[in-house]
Amino acid sequence: MKPILIVYATREGHTRLVAQHIAEFLRERRFPVELYDARDADRPRLDGFSAVLLAASLHLAKHEKEMEQFIARERRVLATLPSAFLSVSLSATAAHDSTRALEHRLQTLRELERCSERLFEKARWRPGQTEFVAGALMYTHYNPLVRWVMKRIARKEGASTDTTRDHVLTDWPALDRFVERFVASFAPELRAAG
Ligand SMILES: Cc1cc2nc3c(=O)[nH]c(=O)nc-3n(C[C@H](O)[C@H](O)[C@H](O)COP(=O)(O)O)c2cc1C
Repeated sequence: MKPILIVYATREGHTRLVAQHIAEFLRERRFPVELYDARDADRPRLDGFSAVLLAASLHLAKHEKEMEQFIARERRVLATLPSAFLSVSLSATAAHDSTRALEHRLQTLRELERCSERLFEKARWRPGQTEFVAGALMYTHYNPLVRWVMKRIARKEGASTDTTRDHVLTDWPALDRFVERFVASFAPELRAAG
């Protein structure tokens, strides 16, 4: 089997961890995997892969420019491959939180969909599947102003306001289930091999 390519774009590093987690999850199930940072110049040839997973984080309602550029450049080959897009953000935490009011969750989901749609329209491509993944609050990595802003947003979103440490909000088992479903969508016979 040709390898699965995982392309990621990150600002504070959490989406790289998400990509590495997925790579490990797939390798444990004997899938060959390659990781690629969308910022790297040495681009892989997409026709050498069986499927592509793309993960990018959200800052000020936008995904990374380098992800948009990667997709725009590769959209023709991407359109021929099974693909999934993972949008990593703080808002995804509220969207998946069953203790939050349904209206708030739906509104958050609609906003996240709008952000991803903007990326897809700009890059003129659409993934087979999209997933919204809760990211991380990296308080110790932010400058004082960003820390202050993120604390206010976190309070609004019901996330931790303890700025003395970082907070990983990703639901790893839920992410694994998404990856499993994605792989099963194009390689059902290989799912059993895991
Ligand atoms: C300056 C800044 C702006 C952000 N803007 C948003 C936003 O508009 N919507 C959102 O849901 N999360 C936002 N976040 C949260 C990030 O999406 C979240 O921390 C994510 O895990 C970052 O991933 P990364 O470490 O891969 O860059 C923002 C974070 C920072 C630091």
